[in-house]
Amino acid sequence: MYILDGKELAKNIRTQVKLETSTLSKPAKLLVILVGKDPASQIYVSSKEKACRDTGIEATTIVFDENITQKEITNRIDEANNDPTIHGILVQLPLPKHLEEQVIINHIAPSKDVDGLTFVNQGRLLAGQKGIVPATPKGVMHLIDAYHLDLTGKNAIVIGRSNLVGKPLALLLMQRNATVTVAHSKTNNLAGIIASADIVCSAVGIPNFITADMIKPGAVVIDIGISRVFGKVVGDVDYEAVSPLCSYITPVPGGIGPMTIASLLENVLECYKLV
Ligand code: GUN
Repeated sequence: MYILDGKELAKNIRTQVKLETSTLSKPAKLLVILVGKDPASQIYVSSKEKACRDTGIEATTIVFDENITQKEITNRIDEANNDPTIHGILVQLPLPKHLEEQVIINHIAPSKDVDGLTFVNQGRLLAGQKGIVPATPKGVMHLIDAYHLDLTGKNAIVIGRSNLVGKPLALLLMQRNATVTVAHSKTNNLAGIIASADIVCSAVGIPNFITADMIKPGAVVIDIGISRVFGKVVGDVDYEAVSPLCSYITPVPGGIGPMTIASLLENVLECYKLV
C-alpha cells in the first residue's frame, strides 16, 4: 500500500506558486467574502488567507453580518469585478438560508471565479473546455497524476454529488476515460457498487463511512471527507482497516485538504493571467 502524500505534493505546488508570484509585475490579489460566523467557514477562510500570504498572494477578507441582503453582497462583488487590482473572488459557502448561493456566485466575473462555481465555468467543465476547475477535484486529479495512476477503463465511484466536489470530480474522472458512478445518500446497494470500484472517492463527511468489507483489494481510495471527532480531524474512511487492502490511499489529514488549498492558489494565478 502506498500513501498518496497530499501534504508533500501541496508543498511542491506552493513552492512553485511562490516562485511565480515573485516574478509578477503587480501583486496577485484574492478577495474572500465571508457571511456570518460559521466556525468551520472561519477556519477555512483563515487557512486560505494564510496560504495566500505564505506564497506571495495578497488576500483580503470582507466579513458581512449574517443578516446582510443579497443586493449588498452582489454590489460588493460588482465593485470587485470592476477593480483591476483584484484577480480572484471567492464567496465562502455555505451562505445563510435567506441568500441564494448560485445567484450570488453567478455575479462573480467568470475570469475572477477562483472556485469555478459560476455557470460559465461549470459549463466549460461539462463541455470539456478550458476553464477554472473547483479546487478540491483539481487537487484530487493532481494527486492521481503525480503518482501516475492510470484511469483508463477503470471503475470509479464518487460518493457525493455537490457542485463543489462530487459533480466536477465525476466529470474530470470521465475526461480521463474512467467509467464513473456518482452515488449519494439515496443510492441503493452502495456497498455493492463500492465493491466493484477500482477507484473510490468519498466526499460524504461521515467518519468511518467507508469500511474494509466494502473495498475491492487493490483499489485506490481517495478520502475527501473532513469531520472532527473529539477535536481530531478525520476523513470518511476507516483508515486503519481499509489501508492494508488498498494499492494507494490518501491520509486525513495530509491528503486532499492541503491539495485543495494548493489548487486554490493555482487558480488565483490562473485568474491573474486571464484579467
Ligand atoms: N466551503 C467548503 N469548501 C469550500 C470551497 O472550496 N469554496 C467555498 N467557496 N466554500 C467552501
